[in-house]
Order: sequence, then C-alpha cells, then structure tokens
Amino acid sequence: MAYDSHARNIDYLRISVTDRCNLRCLYCMPEEGVAWKPHEAMLSLEEIARVVRIAAGEGFKRIRLTGGEPLVRRGIVNLVRDIIATPGIESVAMTTNGILLPEMAASLQAAGLSRVNISLDTLDPAQFTQITRWGAIEDVYAGINSALETGFNPVKINAVVVRSLHQDLLAFARLSLDRPLHVRFIEYMPVGESCGGEGLGWTEADTIPNEELISLIDAQATAAGLGPLIALNASEKPTGWGPARYYHFAGAQGTVGFISALSRHFCEECNRLRLTAEGQLRPCLFSDLEYDLRGALHNGTDEAVRAVLREALSSKPDEHHHQVGTERLMSQIGG
Ligand code: GTP
Ligand code: 5AD
Ligand code: SF4
Repeated sequence: MAYDSHARNIDYLRISVTDRCNLRCLYCMPEEGVAWKPHEAMLSLEEIARVVRIAAGEGFKRIRLTGGEPLVRRGIVNLVRDIIATPGIESVAMTTNGILLPEMAASLQAAGLSRVNISLDTLDPAQFTQITRWGAIEDVYAGINSALETGFNPVKINAVVVRSLHQDLLAFARLSLDRPLHVRFIEYMPVGESCGGEGLGWTEADTIPNEELISLIDAQATAAGLGPLIALNASEKPTGWGPARYYHFAGAQGTVGFISALSRHFCEECNRLRLTAEGQLRPCLFSDLEYDLRGALHNGTDEAVRAVLREALSSKPDEHHHQVGTERLMSQIGG
C-alpha cells in the first residue's frame, strides 16, 4: 500500500488524458482553447497504461480518467480496457461533460468502465449555452439518459455552484427524486483565475459555503413539500472515492451530495495523486509543485518511473492551506 508522509493511504490516481474539450466552460478554459499542446507533448496511451501498471504495483487501486474532456481523446475505450486489465486495479471511473456518451457509453461499459460523473452546472438552457459558450443542454441530458440506460452505477451529476449565477438549486435537487441520479453541489474553487481565465471576476466571495447551501436547499425543499434533506451514513452512500457528503429526500431514488473544498476542507482524508496530460504528477490540486514523470517514461526504466511516483507521493502537503489560484487552468489539471 502507498502512504504519504502524513500517513494517508494514497490509492486513487486521477489521470487527465487530454487538455482539449468540445466545450469551453467560462471558468475552465479561454474561448480560443488553451494553447493546445502538440500531440507529441501528451503522454501516449501506451505511456499512460505503463504508469498505471507501475502505480498499481505501488498500491494504487482506483483510476479516474479526466480531461479537458476525456471522451475526445482518441483510443480512450482501449485505454479503459488496458487499465482495468492491470493486476491490482479494481475500478476505473470517468468525469465527463457527457456530450459524447450517447455514442460511446455502451463501448465504454463493455471495455470495463464502472461509472461516470457528468458535469452540469445549470438546468437553464440559455445559461448552459452561456457558461459553456456553445453547448446545448439537450446533449447533456441525452448523455445522462444513455449513462443510466447503459447501466452505469452510480451516475453522478457535478454542479459547480457560483453565487452570481443564481442557479435553480431545488430543480437540481429534484433530479435525485425519480431516477437513481446523485446530484453533487461543488463549492466553486478559484483555481486558475490568475492564468488566462476570462477574468470572470469570480472570487472566493462567489463560493457558497456548503453549510449555507444545505440550509438553502433544505428550506426550499421543505417549502415545496419534498421534506428535509436526510444525512446518509457511510453504508448508504453511492460508491465514490471523493470527499462528498451525502443526503437524500425520503423515498428518492438518488442522493444529493456536497463537496466543500474551501469551507470545510477534507485534506486529512486525501487519497489521491493527479497526472496531467503532459505527464506531470501533481501532489495537490492547489499547488503548482509538479514532478516530471514524462521524462522518466521517455528515457527511464520502470524503476526510474517508480522513483518519481514515490517522490511525488512523499511531497504531498498536509493540506492546501487555502492557497488557491494556480499556474494551470482546471482543464489542464482535470479537477
Ligand atoms: P467520486 O469518486 O465519485 O466521489 O468522484 P470525485 O469527487 O473524486 O471526482 P470528480 O472528478 O467528480 O470531482 C468532483 C469535484 O471534486 C471537482 O470539483 C473536483 O475538482 C473536486 N476535487 C476532486 N479531487 C479534489 C481534491 O483532491 N481536492 C480538492 N480541493 N477538490 C477536489
Ligand atoms: N471549482 C470547482 N469545481 C470545478 N470543476 C471544474 N472547475 C472547477 C472549479 N473551479 C469541476 C468540473 C468537473 C470536475 C472535474 O471539476 O465541473 O465536474
Ligand atoms: Fe489533497 Fe490538496 Fe485536494 Fe487537500 S487540496 S484534498 S491536500 S489534493
């Protein structure tokens, strides 16, 4: 098993397979896209599979594929197949905007993907197009439907909440009622604002602390007759490796979760490392400290790759110390 220097068991590797995306969410990517890295700058699928094999030997068991948008990476289905065939790897999941799921969900599942988290920040069609710059909300709904029909379980919806967007929180929470959908409200983290974000002006003031959000939704739901949010204990939560806290409405098929990276940080439970599409290992989302795995992959033996992995692991900070704003955009880190 892999432990960091704070005695946390680190067994969850988040792999960004591309920094490209078929949308341009305002807070994640500039309109013209990030200065795309040439194809050769990205790790090849073979290199990613090699990292997974070596990481599995170090005790990593769970892999999440992220982006940009992971489904725009050519060969992603084969990568899923290779990863899940790796001895020691128990599960592969994906965080996606869902747009390509109608055409890809069945082959992803056949390849061994176990579950998907789908990003959707608003239920207002016009606001969706505004936030994503050109997306159509129907495409995400189609993606959610195909994820459910294909049998992925659980299917989660990630909604980043921003105060000035005035999202309809109750409408989101209602998504959990009639279908097994797990809606998660995420505190907006001002990551990458300083490096070519649009200057949206979103700051920590636009982050609605989870406690406030929970009371708001609770009050709205009670007034609407859905009843209060009921906290779930560990055995009732949907499968997950992240730090969300879960609730549900009595009789609902799904749940409502909250991810509070800023107001109640969960670093003491941190269980993850991140790998960027270019092959840099990041010990912490909020820190620009990176370890060059790419160099070791290109020139080195498995032992050299393992050494970089161990170095990154032992450099994980105890917590993010409220340091926010990094040299990279969220799209380059993968959330
Ligand atoms: P589950 O395994 O389904 O629980 O997923 P997850 O929450 O680990 O992953 P997902 O990609 O769906 O991320 C949900 C949100 O959590 C995103 O906003 C991420 O940016 C945020 N997040 C994920 N990992 C970390 C982390 O280590 N630190 C912080 N601060 N936020 C994180
Ligand atoms: N703050 C919080 N969550 C974010 N995500 C992207 N950018 C941010 C941010 N600044 C979410 C995406 C996706 C997940 C990987 O991270 O919506 O669901
Ligand atoms: Fe771990 Fe850093 Fe995320 Fe805290 S902010 S949970 S230390 S990756």
